[in-house]
Amino acid sequence: MPRRRGAFLSQGDLGILSWLGVGWLRILFIGDVVGRPGREIVAHLVPLLRERERPDIVIANGENAAGGKGITPETGEELLNTGIDLLTLGNHAWAKREANDYLEIESRVIRPLNYPGRPPGRGLAVVTTRNGQEVAVISLCGRVFLDVYVDCPFRAALNAVEELGGRTPFVLVDFHAEATSEKAALAHYLDGRVSAVIGTHTHVQTADERILPRGAAFITDVGMTGPVNSIIGVERDQAIRRFLTQLPTRLEVAPPPSRLEGVVIDLDDRTGLAIGIQRLREEE
Ligand SMILES: [Fe+2]
Ligand SMILES: [Fe+2]
Repeated sequence: MPRRRGAFLSQGDLGILSWLGVGWLRILFIGDVVGRPGREIVAHLVPLLRERERPDIVIANGENAAGGKGITPETGEELLNTGIDLLTLGNHAWAKREANDYLEIESRVIRPLNYPGRPPGRGLAVVTTRNGQEVAVISLCGRVFLDVYVDCPFRAALNAVEELGGRTPFVLVDFHAEATSEKAALAHYLDGRVSAVIGTHTHVQTADERILPRGAAFITDVGMTGPVNSIIGVERDQAIRRFLTQLPTRLEVAPPPSRLEGVVIDLDDRTGLAIGIQRLREEE
């Protein structure tokens, strides 16, 4: 695995921060893990990234973990066993029937908070790091260009932050949405109230990672962890055939080689505000 290029905060920077008495909390967030190729590269690279980046917490979006759509107990546990602390989901959360029971019993997997009608599982988790710090993670689904009629993600986010009541300064939001405008709007709406808003769902990493004016780290989409030679994870010929014919077409996960995409976020441990966000793109 190559060394990280252009780190936002180098080991030297972090050394200076620690000399100044400034502590930080580091989050590694991994983009949508697609099928077996995605799970395999996670198994290979997460232990190495834990070693290289030294994150306090590792989060991955697992909505495509099982056959490209949804999650099962087997695929969820396989990912969690690689060193991932928490899995978030998205519009495919319930694509596999087994997810209903799994989401009720596995507290390390969360689904979007703003689905109506109290579906199985939880939309908010508080993870305790090895240093005893609590990190709250909120999963939300967007409403624009997505085939779901969920509750308002803006109001749901605000309610969740209020419910947390300042329990921890570290609050990360996975905003699973299609439209760049909706993602930017939610990020700015929550800026000053949360530590980071990380976009997922499009499977295409955007080059706009930044810290917003009131200190929230933001990226429109963190990208995909899965097969490179694919159409957002799917076999190319099958996806093209569907566009050409408009007929129902079986869509399967493309074979390796794969790539892991994500971000590393550093948060000031007194305020919870972001001090760095850096994109990752790792080949096998
Ligand atoms: Fe996805
Ligand atoms: Fe999605």
